[in-house]
Amino acid sequence: MVKVVGLGGSLAHVSRSRVAVHRALAGAEGAGAETELLDLRALDLPMYNPDLADPTEAAEHLIESCYSADGMIWSSPLYQGTVSGAFKNALDWLHLLGDRDPPYLHDKVIGLLGAAGGAHALQAINTMEFSVRALRGWAVPYVVPVARHVFDDEARILDEGVATRLETLGREVVRVAERFVEDDTLDREEECARSAEVVAAAA
Ligand SMILES: Cc1cc2nc3c(=O)[nH]c(=O)nc-3n(C[C@H](O)[C@H](O)[C@H](O)COP(=O)(O)O)c2cc1C
Repeated sequence: MVKVVGLGGSLAHVSRSRVAVHRALAGAEGAGAETELLDLRALDLPMYNPDLADPTEAAEHLIESCYSADGMIWSSPLYQGTVSGAFKNALDWLHLLGDRDPPYLHDKVIGLLGAAGGAHALQAINTMEFSVRALRGWAVPYVVPVARHVFDDEARILDEGVATRLETLGREVVRVAERFVEDDTLDREEECARSAEVVAAAA
């Protein structure tokens, strides 16, 4: 069974990006995954400060959950044309995975979705993709931008087509993550050691 961790939501009480990632996780669960939601409002992370490297309990939970995942689903609101500060701060905490073997989110499969006031949620998704690469993950090509009008005031999803797309994203992450897990040639520790040897030999 693969583990899929959802990361996101806004700090607001009623959050469309939280509801959306919840629905995508339901899709992952339906495809047989164990799931966990890292809700940024509930986590209440402090700002990452490189001078204070010891993670708080919440940050440690974030870091260990992300590292233990086979797949992730990221969900941010669109704030000023990009991801929210709270979402980016959560990614900044993952910097502490840099000295693990393998480092960061190496070989984890990541599904991306964004929630916006209008039609531009894809901008948040495109921004996230830079971070997926920086953290050594693999973004699935299928993404789900969601506009505010598909929700009611309590953030219930009104459009079944959008709900289906969110669940499809969850299933897609499971489908690809299972391939990574089943691939013996992608043993994470061995692969990292091999890469380190190649790098040392080239130096
Ligand atoms: C600070 C702030 C900045 C925003 N900037 C944008 C924006 O640039 N473009 C846009 O389409 N919507 C923007 N919105 C609207 C949010 O993306 C939208 O309401 C989204 O649903 C918020 O996510 P949430 O429901 O998870 O809190 C902004 C909202 C806030 C509070």
